[in-house]
Amino acid sequence: MTSYKDIGLANSRELFKKAVTGGYAIPGYNFNNMEQLQAVISGCAESNSPVILQISKGARAYANSIMLRYMAEGAVQYARKDLKSNIPIVLHLDHGDTYELCVSCIESGFSSVMIDGSSHSFEDNIKLTKKVVDYARQHDVSVEGELGVLAGIEDEVQAEESTYTDPDDVEKFVEQTGVDSLAISIGTSHGAYKFKVKPGEDPPPLRFDILEEVEKRIPGFPIVLHGSSSVPKEYIDMCNKYGGNLEGAIGVSEDQLRRDAKSAVCKINIDTDGRLVVTAKIREVLSTKPEEFDPRKYLGPAREALKELIIRKNREVLGSADKA
Ligand code: G3H
Ligand code: 13P
Ligand code: ZN
Repeated sequence: MTSYKDIGLANSRELFKKAVTGGYAIPGYNFNNMEQLQAVISGCAESNSPVILQISKGARAYANSIMLRYMAEGAVQYARKDLKSNIPIVLHLDHGDTYELCVSCIESGFSSVMIDGSSHSFEDNIKLTKKVVDYARQHDVSVEGELGVLAGIEDEVQAEESTYTDPDDVEKFVEQTGVDSLAISIGTSHGAYKFKVKPGEDPPPLRFDILEEVEKRIPGFPIVLHGSSSVPKEYIDMCNKYGGNLEGAIGVSEDQLRRDAKSAVCKINIDTDGRLVVTAKIREVLSTKPEEFDPRKYLGPAREALKELIIRKNREVLGSADKA
C-alpha cells in the first residue's frame, strides 16, 4: 500500500471548498503519455492553478497502470524541484467502474477516485458508491459519484429527459453515499461531437435550470461537469487542413463553461481538447516537414501547444489560475 501523502499528492476536498466559495473550477485534465503529463503540469504550474490529473481505465490499459502511477509521482517532483511550484496536485481515477478498480488505485497512491455507477439503477449506484466511499475514507481519499447519464453522440440534440440528472435524486444520493463531489448530466457529452447541429446553427444551451435546481437541493456541495471540452475551431481546422477529417466536430462554448465555473461546478473535465491540439500539431509538423522522423520534433511542438491551451483555459475559462 502506497499512501498518496507520501508522494506529495493532495486529495480534492480542500480544493473544492475553495473553488465553490471562490467561484471557479479546478481542471480535471486526462493524460495517457509523458508529453501530455508534462504539458498539464507545466501549464498548471505556470498559471499557478491547482490540478487534478486524471487517469481513465483506458489510459491504464494503454500506458500500464504501474507506469502511469510512477509518472504521476515524477510529475510531482518535476513540479516541486524543476518548476519550483507548489501547486496542489490530485491523482484521480476517471470513470472507475468497479469497487476493485477503485481499491487498486487507492492502494497504488491515487488521492481521489470516481466511481461511475451511472449505468446501474439508482439503488445499486448508491450501494456501489457507498462501498467505495467506505473504503476510501479509511485512507483519506476523496470520491466522486455520478447521477444521470451523459448524452451519447447517438442521442438527438435534445437528449431524452431521463438521461439528465433528476434533482429529486441528489439529496438522497449524497446523504446515503457520503461522496465528496457529484458529477451531473446537464447536456454535455464525451468526445468531439457533442451536438448534432446543422451548419451555421448554434448548439442547444446546457440545462442550467437543472444545475440551479441541484444547487438548491444541496447548497454548496461540489458539482462536477464531465464532457466539457470546447473543441476549438482553430484545432479542428488545423487537423482538417493537414489531412484529418473531423467534419461536424463541436463542443461546449467557453461562455457556458465560464458560467458553470462561477456556480457550484467546482471541477471541469477536459480530455478531448488535449487530444485535438496534440493531433493537430503533429499533423501540421509531419505535413509541413515531411523529412522529420524524430518523435521529439513533432511531440515537442504538440506538448508546447497543449501547455499553451491549458494556460489559456485556466486563465480565461475555469478561473483556476492563481488559485493554487
Ligand atoms: O471520460 C472519458 C475520458 O475522456 C477518457 O477517455 O476512456 O478513452 O481514456 P478514454
Ligand atoms: P471531453 O471528452 O469533453 O474532453 O470530456 C472528458 C471527460 O469528461 C473525462 O472524464
Ligand atoms: Zn467523463
